[in-house]
Amino acid sequence: HTSTQKDINPFQEARPEIDYICDNINKKLCTQMLELREMAQYYFDGQGKTFRPLIVLLMAKAINMHQNSTDIISQSQQQVAMISEMIHTASLIHDDVIDNSSTRRGKPTVDNKWGQRKAILVGDYILSVSSLLLAQLRNEEVVKILSQVIEDLVRGEFMQLGSKEEPNDRFNHYLKKTFKKTASLIANSCKAVAVLGNCNEDVTQRAFEYGQNIGMAFQLIDDLLDFTSHESIMGKPTAADLRLGLATAPVLYAAQEHQELNALIMRRFCHEGDVELARSFVAKSDGVYQTKLLAEAHSAAAIELLKELEPSKARDALEHVATLVLRRNK
Ligand code: FPP
Ligand code: MG
Ligand code: MG
Repeated sequence: HTSTQKDINPFQEARPEIDYICDNINKKLCTQMLELREMAQYYFDGQGKTFRPLIVLLMAKAINMHQNSTDIISQSQQQVAMISEMIHTASLIHDDVIDNSSTRRGKPTVDNKWGQRKAILVGDYILSVSSLLLAQLRNEEVVKILSQVIEDLVRGEFMQLGSKEEPNDRFNHYLKKTFKKTASLIANSCKAVAVLGNCNEDVTQRAFEYGQNIGMAFQLIDDLLDFTSHESIMGKPTAADLRLGLATAPVLYAAQEHQELNALIMRRFCHEGDVELARSFVAKSDGVYQTKLLAEAHSAAAIELLKELEPSKARDALEHVATLVLRRNK
C-alpha cells in the first residue's frame, strides 16, 4: 500500500455524517408503538459496519469535489445514505427469516427474539419509512433508481431459492444473483448521489460501476468467509450456505476441478453427508483462492474507476475502502 493509504481511516473521513445518519434513522423509526419501535431500532445500535452509508457519503464527497470543488454533502445526498442503510437492514431482517438464522451482528436476530410474523412486519415497517424518506427527496429519477434496488433485492433473493441451473449457466446465474442481492444497492446508491450532485453521465456511470465492483467484491468475500471464518468473529452463522442448499463461488470453482460436486450442487446438498463432502472438496480445491482472485479483480476495477475523479481525501478513502473489502474478516 502507498503511504497515503496507511494514514487514511475511511470512517474518519465521514464520521460526523455517519453519526448523524444513525441518530436520524432512530428518530425516523420512533413510532408510538413501543414494541415496533424497539424492534425497528434494534440493529441501529451503533454496532453495525455502516459500510453502505460510508461508501455513499464518501462518493458524495468525492463527486462534489470533482464537480463543484466542495466536499460538503447536500441534505438529499445524506438522505440517500440513510435510505440505503434502512433498505439494507430491512432486507437483512427478512433474510434471517428466509435463512432461519439465529444470530446477526453478534446478537439474536429479530426473528429469533420476536418470531417470524413480527420480524416480517418490522422489515416492512423499516422499508415503508425509507420509502417515505425517498418520496420526500422529490426527485423522480432518484426514486426510480432506489426503487430498482428493492426490485433487485427481491429478484436476487428469489433467484437463490430452489434454482437448478445447467452447470454451464451456473456461474453466470451466481454472478447475476450476486449483483441483484448485494451490488445493486451499493451501485445504485452511488449513482443516486451522483445524480443529486448534478454529475454528467460519465461521472454518474463511474459512481455506479465503482459501487457495483465494490458490491461484487464484498459478496464474494462474504461467500468465501462462509467457508473460512467462524461465527465468533462474524457475529452470524458461518458454514451456512451449503446447509441452505446454496452453491456460491468457492463451490462453483471447486466443481470445475472435481466434477463429482455437480450432482451435490444439483440436489442442493440435501443428502446426508453432502455438506461435509462438499466442504472437503472445496478444501482440497483452489475454490477459495479463485474466489479471492475474482474479488481482487473487482476491487482493482473499482480503484481504476476513481482515477478520472478530481483528487481528494474522499477519493483516497474510497480507494482505501476497495482494499478494506478484501481484508475484512467480518
Ligand atoms: C443477505 O445475504 C441478504 C441480502 C443481501 C438480501 C436479502 C433480500 C431480501 C430478503 C428480499 C428483499 C427484502 C426487502 C425488505 C427489500 P446472505 O443470506 O447471503 O447473507 P448473511 O450471511 O448476512 O445472512
Ligand atoms: Mg440469505
Ligand atoms: Mg442470510
